[in-house]
Amino acid sequence: MSLAEPKILGIESSCDETAAAVVQGGKRVLSSVVASQIDIHRKYGGVVPELASREHLRQIVPVVREAVAQAGITLKDVDAVAVTQGPGLVGALLVGMTYGKALAMSLGKPLIGVNHLAGHVHAVFLEASMTGAAIPELPALCLIVSGGHTMLYRVTGDGSRPFTYTRVGGTRDDAAGEAYDKVARMLALGYPGGPVIDQLAAHGDSKAIRFATPKMTGNQHDFSFSGIKTAVLYHLQRHKELEPEIAARREALARGERTAAALKPLCTQPTLDLIASFQHAVVEDLVTRTLAAAAETGAKSILVTGGVAANSALRKRFEAEAKRAGRIAFFPSRALSTDNAAMIAAAGYASYAAGIHSDSTLNADPNLPLAARLYGAAS
Ligand code: KG4
Ligand code: ZN
Repeated sequence: MSLAEPKILGIESSCDETAAAVVQGGKRVLSSVVASQIDIHRKYGGVVPELASREHLRQIVPVVREAVAQAGITLKDVDAVAVTQGPGLVGALLVGMTYGKALAMSLGKPLIGVNHLAGHVHAVFLEASMTGAAIPELPALCLIVSGGHTMLYRVTGDGSRPFTYTRVGGTRDDAAGEAYDKVARMLALGYPGGPVIDQLAAHGDSKAIRFATPKMTGNQHDFSFSGIKTAVLYHLQRHKELEPEIAARREALARGERTAAALKPLCTQPTLDLIASFQHAVVEDLVTRTLAAAAETGAKSILVTGGVAANSALRKRFEAEAKRAGRIAFFPSRALSTDNAAMIAAAGYASYAAGIHSDSTLNADPNLPLAARLYGAAS
């Protein structure tokens, strides 16, 4: 890569991570700094919007400074500033947006508004560029699966312009990561719930309890996870004998013992079976619906991204099932799966390279859609 390749500074503040990164040529991550607020939100079992905004305000300046320093450049060397415009928490988005705008203006460099979900899609391509792996072929079908989103998009493009996205499906209630977090809360497994459930599930029998996801009426490519979450709640109401161990785990969490290794001795086999069965139901649903959508939309590759894409069972099942269907499943690394600013810079580069900039009227949009169209709908 030539030294002259443009360097994009990415800024992300849509949820509970304040992040900044410098990416060169849309392909090479020169730095990626993420300040997580997990410790602040943990005691509430979820992200508290007011606290998130306040923390972004505290972190934004040092995080951007650190990203620029780690890239070995100065702000003057930045060719454009890419900032997350939405979707996300409005107060959180506004911090990054206001800072990014002011920075671009003071540097006299282009400002590029980026859709957070486009960032998650670009994370997969960035990973392939960084590792030298094959670049996913288009059209692709992308599952974005995180604490805030569970969406299916068809991704098309010829490389000369930013990708075009068509919405194929999405959750009608909870996001998959939200279901993980809520079930973890019921079982006293800490926050966020995904990583601990992922590790504990390996010790349980995933066939012990049958949790079913609903048959969808209308769009078959939609998801629904609130039913599984409620089924776990009913299961716990029927099995009062599990209450003492839940109380014991709650005490362990209060003592700061949060790892799967620390919590496992406080889980009986029926609890481990419950955890494994819950995860099995979520993973099978995500894999089955995504593969069906990939077949229907004629996708050449399958992209899986967002925090839940870090799940080991999900990765294994996707790899196996995609292979059986003659497709390849692509995932970002763990660091690029969860919220980060390198993915925002990479998505911003696609606009920059096509000469697409934002102007000073750019504003945060908590409901910013990624796709203008629904797949199969008349345009
Ligand atoms: O993408 P992300 O960092 O933030 C959002 O945009 O939501 O995703 C966080 C979500 C949380 O719900 C967390 O429980 C889940 O991703 N998560 C996982 C795993 N690691 C994180 N879920 C299942 N298995 C994991 N290994
Ligand atoms: Zn995200």
